[in-house]
Amino acid sequence: MSDSKINRSDAQSVTGAPTSRVPRFYRLSVEQRLSWLQRAFGLENDELAQLRQGNALRVRHAINMVENAIGIFGLPLGLGLNFLVDNREYIVPMAIEEASIIAAVSKSALLIRGGGGFTTEVDKPVMIGQVQVLDLVDPAAAAKSVEDNKAKVIEQANLGNGRMVGRGGGVFDLETRIVEGGGDIGSMLVVHLLMDVREAMGANAVNSACEAAGPLIEEVTGGRVQLRILSNLADHRLARAKFRLPVEKLSIEGLEGADVAKRMVEAWALAHHDPYRAATHNKGIFNGIDAAAIAFGQDWRAIEAGGHAYAASRGGYRSLTRFSIEDGALCGEIEMPMAVGWKGGSAGSHPAVAILKKISGVRSAAELAGLLASVGLAQNFGACLALVTVGIQRGHMSLHARSVALSVGTPAADVDVVAKEMIKRGEVRVAIAEEILRELNHRRETQGTPDRLPITASAPGKVVLFGEHAVVYGQPGITASIDLSLRVRISHDPDGPRLVHPEFEHLFPIEESERDFERFGKAVNTALELYGLEREPIAIEVESELLPGMGLGSSAAFSVAMCLALRKYRDRDSKRRWDPELFEEAQRLERIFHGTPSGIDVSTVLSGGVLWFRGGEPREILPVRLPRPASALVCIAEAGARTIELVRQVQNSRQLHRERTDRIISEIGELTARAGSALGAGDFKAVGEMMYRNHELLADLGVSTPVLDHCVELLMENGALGAKLTGAGGGGAVVALSEPGERGHLIELLSKEFPLVVPFELGAAE
Ligand code: MEV
Repeated sequence: MSDSKINRSDAQSVTGAPTSRVPRFYRLSVEQRLSWLQRAFGLENDELAQLRQGNALRVRHAINMVENAIGIFGLPLGLGLNFLVDNREYIVPMAIEEASIIAAVSKSALLIRGGGGFTTEVDKPVMIGQVQVLDLVDPAAAAKSVEDNKAKVIEQANLGNGRMVGRGGGVFDLETRIVEGGGDIGSMLVVHLLMDVREAMGANAVNSACEAAGPLIEEVTGGRVQLRILSNLADHRLARAKFRLPVEKLSIEGLEGADVAKRMVEAWALAHHDPYRAATHNKGIFNGIDAAAIAFGQDWRAIEAGGHAYAASRGGYRSLTRFSIEDGALCGEIEMPMAVGWKGGSAGSHPAVAILKKISGVRSAAELAGLLASVGLAQNFGACLALVTVGIQRGHMSLHARSVALSVGTPAADVDVVAKEMIKRGEVRVAIAEEILRELNHRRETQGTPDRLPITASAPGKVVLFGEHAVVYGQPGITASIDLSLRVRISHDPDGPRLVHPEFEHLFPIEESERDFERFGKAVNTALELYGLEREPIAIEVESELLPGMGLGSSAAFSVAMCLALRKYRDRDSKRRWDPELFEEAQRLERIFHGTPSGIDVSTVLSGGVLWFRGGEPREILPVRLPRPASALVCIAEAGARTIELVRQVQNSRQLHRERTDRIISEIGELTARAGSALGAGDFKAVGEMMYRNHELLADLGVSTPVLDHCVELLMENGALGAKLTGAGGGGAVVALSEPGERGHLIELLSKEFPLVVPFELGAAE
């Protein structure tokens, strides 16, 4: 091997990404996929949130990247899996809108992995910079003069690139070419500066080298220097990838592997000899390379331009790949320029790229070049394999069928069944999807399912009626369940168990509570372990009217509903409401969300009524029995804040104003105790007054907001018996008590200003 090549399989051990082989990754919910990434790569919650939200690039970054920025343009981001390249594992982030690309490349990489994966060979990172010299009397003499002054030109070119030279790079050689300009232009001299750009893509460095060398080239040639710019036909910087796959591994759909291999070579032959096919064949290669190049923050237009120019550089526009059969194996190879950078460039300004680089397993520009070549080859292999066997439409069709199935409201767990049936019938249309779904439901209703699926369980949310914040300091609190709930549905899924992405109602952007979504994945895994259901063929769907992050107990409702549903599935349905075992099980899940939860939320959700609570030893959790239910409502007033931050805020102000804060806290405690008695006596007028006083005290603690205050005042001015913020404050919701006949108009009034108002009967469950 020439010393200008880097053969990575010699240099590296069998490591890389933890593993790029993640069976059934595609069956996981987005949250489970993200949890897997977090576990495998030690990603921070922030990093996951950035990937999840898809807007890791924000306008504040964009304005530093382009002119006239007006926003961010999104693309789906997925992972190409199963890549074994030079015995290293790689995960390929891919940003692309076209269906089937990621599935196809992962499938191809898996097949190729079966033959030992890819091997690559990557040239040193040498870029070409072009300097155009015109108006020459004798271009050949001018070329000689440049050659004679080579050392000086190189020195001049490197003047502005000290850092790159310091890293062992820089311009190290030059070549001259005479190019016919035709017509009046005549012959011109083109000087190629050859520059080792190390870990950079190199465009900027090469362009500055060309500009720096321009004046000297002009001087030694006596001509006029015009263009000074890199060439994207980076043919000193080629990347090659290849694989070898025993033909038996190619047998598909009743075709012999040897036959498939022969067809692959025939398909390649057309692309090699016919530019009409070569264009499409190469487009398929760039489906993979571009998608990965974008996710790696590379200049994918440069790679495309280099690839197409290279494809046309050997007597006609040809295929960039080649397939042949040798010794009973299909051999695939690709060779093309690969100008990619690992350091610097626009990649550095995109925050998501840093995360994606981290999970990829790639460590250098050379590795990236080899990986991208492998991706292009895998993508092309997949496309050709489909074309020579089942045709390309089938893969596209299955995704399309899934989206049609979803569009008619097919439950997630049935999407596959409906999609497959449509394909089988040869008609992927909304009307057909509806028909299949109707048939499916009818069959289930009439036959029943042997295992009683689907099973559902739901649990309500909760509000704090009295005592938030004060409970942290040993004072009592009173909570109540509300009429917003969360539902868990368990259905049959041969590829389960899996959690279908939870559906939460959103009223506000919920950046912070997005973090919780990842915990749902973990909580489901814990619950499955808890009940020994890790291998069960089930899909778990979560649907919630409870808005996460509003202090309405969505995680407790989730924990309880999940345990109830899995218990039902296990035929361990809990008959008693106060089942201590069930409480402990739900608490285990709740701990995943809240670390060391007091138990009040789970207790309230389980009790379904009004609850008295005091922490510490011994812990008091007692139902408060009301002589009759009271009319109440909860109003979602504004986006919530993080409980932990508000608790910290009160701690801080207690440090600064100890006496004052303690006075407020103990007054809240006394109020709560009196409210407990008033609730028990059914004196709702007194309860209402105490709620309002509790709100004032919370405002004194500094946890209310103008919006919450306004909502409370509006309620009080319009006849509510009482109103207060509920939960940690800093935003979120307000709870109010009213005379039964007054509630309707209060709801009407609030609905004009606030996004959601929900009535509930306080104590109805008792
Ligand atoms: C479609 O995006 C790409 C293919 O047309 C490539 C090919 O034909 O090889 C399927």
